Amino acid sequence: MANPEVKPSGHARIETSNFLMIVLVLLTVAVGGAVEIVPLFFQRSTTEATPGLKPYTPLQLAGRDIYIREGCYNCHSQMIRPFRSETLRYGHYSTAGEFVYDRPFQWGSKRTGPDLHRVGGKYNDEWHRIHLTNPRDLVPESNMPAYPWLAKTMVDPADMAPKLSTLRKLGVPYDDAEVAGAAEAVKGRSELDAVIAYLQVLGTALK
Ligand code: HEC
Repeated sequence: MANPEVKPSGHARIETSNFLMIVLVLLTVAVGGAVEIVPLFFQRSTTEATPGLKPYTPLQLAGRDIYIREGCYNCHSQMIRPFRSETLRYGHYSTAGEFVYDRPFQWGSKRTGPDLHRVGGKYNDEWHRIHLTNPRDLVPESNMPAYPWLAKTMVDPADMAPKLSTLRKLGVPYDDAEVAGAAEAVKGRSELDAVIAYLQVLGTALK
């Protein structure tokens, strides 16, 4: 019971006022958040590309968009955490500089299937061709869906130049020749070719 003789302290005043409490909590969280987040925008290790990281080629970029369209991220993360159990299984942990050309990044946390960040070069193209067309042909116990339509659908070359120039506006260093040649680079290639090209480059900048 409050003693009417004792004047309420500053703390008691805050704790008994919903308004003050809400405003001060929001302020504390905002300042705390800003202190953690803002420096990351200025740190070289989080903003600059890892040496050896190249922007996606038009075919790889088309594959990345198909990866997103098909929802592969619902079962696959692309972020190896810096724990021994992860690095033993997947390889070097993921670093921020490897993702500077990813918009949006595909880190994720859902792992119905294995992490894919360093799957590039783990299998040959033919393995992926069979696996994506029907995973059960290679991994009998797999619950990954089959994507047989990828082999039958062509990448639309008309999409590519606008995609590259949009990414260029966002800071990805494509030159004029790459933008101009983007349509030609995917001509006659299937969506399956594109997804495989994308998978094969994943995580290879740091290997
Ligand atoms: C319903 C969940 C699910 C979805 C969606 C899914 N996968 Fe998988 N994926 C798995 C599982 C489970 C495995 C492990 C068994 C296997 O290899 O088939 C796997 C394995 C893989 C592997 C082999 C990884 C390794 O290191 O052995 C690749 C590559 C892969 N998936 C790519 C894809 C791509 C590309 C897509 C989208 C087109 C996709 N997955 C969608 C569940 C999924």
